[in-house]
Amino acid sequence: MKIGFFDSGLGGLTILKAVTKKLPQYDYVFYGDTAHLPYGDREEEEIYELTKIGMRYLFEKGAVLSIIACNTASAQTARRLQQEFLPVEYPNRKILGIIVPTIEILKFDVLTNVVLIGTTRTVNSGKYQLELNHKGNGNTILTQIAIPELVPLIERNELADAATIAIQTIETKAGESTVVVLGCTHYTQIKHQLRAHFKEDKKIISQDEIIPNKLNEYLTRHQEISSQLIHRGERHIHLTKHRPDYDRIMVQLLGGAHTR
Ligand code: DGL
Repeated sequence: MKIGFFDSGLGGLTILKAVTKKLPQYDYVFYGDTAHLPYGDREEEEIYELTKIGMRYLFEKGAVLSIIACNTASAQTARRLQQEFLPVEYPNRKILGIIVPTIEILKFDVLTNVVLIGTTRTVNSGKYQLELNHKGNGNTILTQIAIPELVPLIERNELADAATIAIQTIETKAGESTVVVLGCTHYTQIKHQLRAHFKEDKKIISQDEIIPNKLNEYLTRHQEISSQLIHRGERHIHLTKHRPDYDRIMVQLLGGAHTR
């Protein structure tokens, strides 16, 4: 069986790439819902239904475990899919979100000002604060800022403009912060620009650098899942809507061969 990845668009491919670099032996299937991007401005119920369609696709393609490599969908649907959808339709499969492993990477030993940037839905869901309340110890002061312009810009590969907006927003609204969480998988593509700008002043947390280790740890802990995974190293990418420029962007994001 395979490992599935879900995103509302191409952003999650950066997570897939990082994971396949660390764990190249497994088979992967990716579902990018480019027909309905961006999820960040959609209603909760709509995001739930769209994510459920993606989960069904991934499970039908043989995923034993599906990772919602999208903060917006994780915030809105992960728990509900685990509680309501899986037991009824796929009781032997697993769904993991991306928010809890991101929170776990924060250091809680000293008082820290953290800013999270994400989509409107992710920020309004309050999910990061909720998970922080569970995992943290009160030492983390979290400011959450939605920057709805970023996903469409990044999806069009206009990375310099996206980075400029992100930097200006962080400086204006969260100048005091010392840690920046990129709470949207699309933002992994502007992490270099942000690091070059903020240098030592702000630590940039990017999910493509977190998920590979977290997934590896999960698979080590869950032999009942990892023992089912095929070792053929195949990747299959499915987008719900194709555009001519996606081919080039996919090669850029994945850096290698893929099928559609
Ligand atoms: N990549 C998604 C995320 O991590 C959001 C993109 C969208 O708005 O659809 O939140």
